[in-house]
Amino acid sequence: MKFKNTHVDHQVTDEATYLNRRQLIQAGVMGTAALMSPSAWSLTLPKHQTNDAFVIDELTSEKDATTYNNFYEFGLSKSDPAENAGSLKTAPWTVTIEGLCENKGQFDIEQLVKQFQLEERIYRMRCVEAWSMVIPWLGFKLADLVKFCQPLSAAKYIYFETLYDPKQMPGQRGRSIPWPYREGLRLDEAMNELTLMTVGMYGKKLPNQNGAPLRLIVPWKYGFKGIKSIVKIKFLDQQPVNSWQAIAPQEYGFYANVNPQVDHPRWSQATERRITGGFSLFNSRIKTQMFNGYGDYVADLYKGMDLSRYY
Ligand code: MTE
Repeated sequence: MKFKNTHVDHQVTDEATYLNRRQLIQAGVMGTAALMSPSAWSLTLPKHQTNDAFVIDELTSEKDATTYNNFYEFGLSKSDPAENAGSLKTAPWTVTIEGLCENKGQFDIEQLVKQFQLEERIYRMRCVEAWSMVIPWLGFKLADLVKFCQPLSAAKYIYFETLYDPKQMPGQRGRSIPWPYREGLRLDEAMNELTLMTVGMYGKKLPNQNGAPLRLIVPWKYGFKGIKSIVKIKFLDQQPVNSWQAIAPQEYGFYANVNPQVDHPRWSQATERRITGGFSLFNSRIKTQMFNGYGDYVADLYKGMDLSRYY
């Protein structure tokens, strides 16, 4: 299935404009074009596209999405990243590309991002801890970055690493995770049109607690695949081990596809608590969908695989 993408050059906006736009879309008044005010983003980043294929759920408030986080480099509780991530220096920032590809090297993030077409994508996000959010991300297709890197035919996997710098990341002074945080995808998963390298949310640059300046978003997988503050990308012929797999392989696998039929050993994955506007105990509990509802786009990737074994 082709991902519906409307080519609308727009500038960035604040949350109020998003919500406004959503109401207009719901009322059927507006198609996909949005009236948005310019901001600093447009000075440093090229024009981007918007996408409304998934404007079907209520957006999570920007406040919840930026204050209820997992980013263990800045502490273990949900409020720690927003409180502590201010110490992360995101400019200048270099991404190293290495392994089985032609175009290796160290790339300045600003220069790298300029190569690609930015889009807004509103995605449902499902955390392995059984809560979920709906977030408007701003990013470019990982597929475009992969093409830019020119992988060799032997490359079958892509691997990512977060910055390791305990001076800036206080959580790394402890051993809660074998640092640096690591993730990986099969190359065909990386090439899927839904997979996004993300640089912003709610029309602004990513806040540090959400993984500035560059993170991964894979909306049909549990949130832990969305590695934050990436400094290294490597092309491999072997499947890499991700951080959570390394810690508890019986609980977390390489694939981490959202699957209501395969429970975590310690809790059910059948339902999720949807965090919308205003985080509270009254957030609705809804049924979790296979592949987080993106099966039309991704189910083919796993044809013939036993998903209870490859979890
Ligand atoms: N990336 C790094 N480097 N460190 C982390 O602890 N946590 C993961 C993922 N990426 C994490 C990370 C988990 S468990 C989740 S659910 C998502 O980030 C949360 O992303 P969000 O805070 O933007 O919602």
